[in-house]
Amino acid sequence: GTKLSNKFEKIEHKVKMLSLANAFNKKDLEDFIERIKKFLNKAPNYKINFISEPKIDGLSLNLYYKRGRLISATTRGDGSIGENVIKNIYNVKDIPKKLIGSNIPKEIEIRGEIYLEKKDFLILNSKLEDKEKFSNPRNAAAGSLRQLDPNITKKRPLKFIAHGLGYSNKKYLSIEDFYSDLSLWKIPLSKMIEKVNAINLMYDFYKKIENSRSKISYDIDGIVYKVNNYDIQNRLGFVGKNPRWAIAL
Ligand code: IVH
Repeated sequence: GTKLSNKFEKIEHKVKMLSLANAFNKKDLEDFIERIKKFLNKAPNYKINFISEPKIDGLSLNLYYKRGRLISATTRGDGSIGENVIKNIYNVKDIPKKLIGSNIPKEIEIRGEIYLEKKDFLILNSKLEDKEKFSNPRNAAAGSLRQLDPNITKKRPLKFIAHGLGYSNKKYLSIEDFYSDLSLWKIPLSKMIEKVNAINLMYDFYKKIENSRSKISYDIDGIVYKVNNYDIQNRLGFVGKNPRWAIAL
């Protein structure tokens, strides 16, 4: 998250923004799946569907839409309260100010990552004085997002990829189900998403992305695995600030 300042309006997230626990190898990932099955009282051969996708090295953002209109865009902050950076978000082309299409709920929080592409980070730095240069695309995205002057943000090509659901008055059955609405509304999703249900498939996905990492236009810092079904997610709940239903490898 980011430290709260007095620069922006503070807004409480309708549903807390959690962070991910880490796995560092295949064994940790195996333990994660085993813990879930034990918690659910399931046999070791029970299959659970996971959505796997790259972990984007950016900043989390919570978009709150009411009757299809973008009302606020808040940073994670301390997980409960974030800063409303909506004036800067108006300049992000990837994020619609109005949802257009069918199935639009009365209220919905769409979460995702704000980031800068590697090439845009290099272009930005080339235009800055040495002492103003950013050390990596993530810092550049953070500096661009928390600008008080939206005209500066306008010149920074921030991008957005959605990866999570906060509050919604519409009941979604699964991440897949939620993502299909996001596609309808033209909200960007990762182009590298796989549904997998076994450790070897999960680890193969990690290896595949690792091998193509240099070809991805933005920085990633791992793979996220999350239980696809929301009822199962809710049964699993969380430990401290980390959900039991997701992990980053
Ligand atoms: S799922 C518990 N999917 O990683 C929240 N998060 O500490 C579950 N992140 O702040 C989030 N890429 O902003 C998810 N594909 C992805 C992600 C992703 C980046 C960020 C997220 C969160 C942090 C985890």
